[in-house]
Amino acid sequence: MIKDRKILVMVVAIAMLSSAILLSGCTEEKDENKIIVGTSADFPPFEYTDASGKIIGFDIELITMILESLNYTVEVKDIGFDSLIPSLQSDKIDVIAAGMTITEERDEVIDFSDPYYQADQSVLIKKGSGVEINASHDLENFTASIANLTIGAQTGTTGAGWIQENLIDTEMMDEENFKQYDLYLDAVADLDIGPDRLDAIILDLAVAQAFAENVNREVAYTIVTEENYGFGVKEGNTELVEKINAELEMIIGSDDWTALINKYFE
Ligand code: ARG
Repeated sequence: MIKDRKILVMVVAIAMLSSAILLSGCTEEKDENKIIVGTSADFPPFEYTDASGKIIGFDIELITMILESLNYTVEVKDIGFDSLIPSLQSDKIDVIAAGMTITEERDEVIDFSDPYYQADQSVLIKKGSGVEINASHDLENFTASIANLTIGAQTGTTGAGWIQENLIDTEMMDEENFKQYDLYLDAVADLDIGPDRLDAIILDLAVAQAFAENVNREVAYTIVTEENYGFGVKEGNTELVEKINAELEMIIGSDDWTALINKYFE
């Protein structure tokens, strides 16, 4: 009898000990100090890959600077733009750094940091493709002049939203002439092929300018939209947003900020 109890105590002790070991193993795997940043690395100069495949860019350096001063280690994951918000919601990533415009619709499902960059949309075309755009400041004339073109944008972006609202919903443009791409890089590849594939791309101006560093492409028009980029965090993660905002406030206007702007925009 006594012997049985001893054995039982030992079995229980071993069970407790091994579950403790298992548990500690689990907590070690989810590193509290690591933040996974999700991006869509098709958007120079904000996020793109260098020759070695490393993800770099204005957003990536800025968010890394912010998170490292908060003592986090940072891992960057390249995910399609349209999957960023669902990935944040299902905890696959902790922060979105993707030139993401703060919109009312998005703000309902995730939280945004304070704005860090202001952007407009624009039209990128292939030089010498014969595509003609009425670049007058009258939005109506301009819109009418592109309604017959085949136009592309990245799925889920404000650029795609602009096409939908101004050209499709108004019935000015045939829906089949609106091409949506997973990546802006694929849209640019089609633009380079020429009008057989794609006449124009609607995208954020600074990104269009970066793509237009290639002499075969040009920015034909600026659509003033005055969007603001913010970093996204999961809805309700107020603590992290506030920490990011405090760092952002210190960085904007500092020497680090100027260096970052000069590195990616000049
Ligand atoms: N600013 C636009 C938006 O928020 C486009 C962002 C696309 N970003 C990217 N990394 N591809 O919808």
